[in-house]
Amino acid sequence: SLAVANVQRMASSLKEVPNRYIRPELEVDRVVNDEHVSIPVIDMSKLVDGYGGDELAKLHSACRDWGFFQVINHGIAEEVIMKMKIDVQEFFDQPLEEKMKCAQLPNSLEGYGQAFVLSEEQKLDWGDMLFILAKPINGRNMKFWPKVPSSFRATLDKYSSELEKLSVILLSSMARNLGLDPDELLSSFKEGSQSIRMNYYPPCKQASKVTGLSPHSDAGGLTLLTQVNQVQGLQIKKDGKWVPVDPIPGAFIVNIGDIIEIMSNGEYKSIEHRAVVNPEKERLSIAAFHNTNFNAMIGPLPAIISKDQKQAPNYKTVSAIDYIKLVVSCKLDGKGLVDQ
Ligand code: SIN
Ligand code: FE2
Repeated sequence: SLAVANVQRMASSLKEVPNRYIRPELEVDRVVNDEHVSIPVIDMSKLVDGYGGDELAKLHSACRDWGFFQVINHGIAEEVIMKMKIDVQEFFDQPLEEKMKCAQLPNSLEGYGQAFVLSEEQKLDWGDMLFILAKPINGRNMKFWPKVPSSFRATLDKYSSELEKLSVILLSSMARNLGLDPDELLSSFKEGSQSIRMNYYPPCKQASKVTGLSPHSDAGGLTLLTQVNQVQGLQIKKDGKWVPVDPIPGAFIVNIGDIIEIMSNGEYKSIEHRAVVNPEKERLSIAAFHNTNFNAMIGPLPAIISKDQKQAPNYKTVSAIDYIKLVVSCKLDGKGLVDQ
């Protein structure tokens, strides 16, 4: 990957936005759905066994028709989420020299820096990030885990475990909805990998001409997103139009990644989304990506294909290791990955 400028530092001193950040495509791709549609909201307290019929059905259509939903009453203590938000804000508020102690190394995704850049011509995103592999625990590289604020490591460890538990509950409800025995889906995610990406988008005077995070679908299994402050910016593509997501305080925004689309043989959809930038205010978000373990096979689940003999597999099956290689070799742009 090629080194690029720190956006937070650039934004604090800048007069003119460099050309590499200006996106001519936004002139035509700015259209936002204004019909007041919003993504489904799932009440997790109603997903309990024997009682969850209606809410399970709602979850099924959220996964099939939207690929995005918010979860409320998810059972994660407010304090765990608050503490994570405070520590992330404090990390990004530090001087650049402090943050650079966790800097990315050449050709690695982990650490503090910017999204992958593969060519000199590639347009750049208006944002910085701190990307950390949280699970499996023996895969952690503490070099990238901030020491300041002093509670950061314990906070992230707790946040990581709580979100992993929540993902397992969501995945087992999805399995039931897909007519599977929960283990037929969950076995691939046992001892799974989890990475956490903390995003920082500085304000930009030419906000309507830049992109915080380019349109993409998530390559992993399930993503759980929380916004740190009240500044909106997430948009999802629905029926060819960008729909802004209005986060419910305390809720998580959940989306289906490419792996679940593939495993469900396309019944569930991994939806394209992007982040836009605010002209006056900084925006921060925390995305937790829940992925399979490294021994899993990524392909339509045999139980789904055999359930309905008429259903042919719509995707190839590859090992998790080959899948990861494919992900990092692609420019993370648009929805190209599931077609390969
Ligand atoms: C993401 O797609 O990982 C994050 C989008 C956001 O910042 O809301
Ligand atoms: Fe994403």
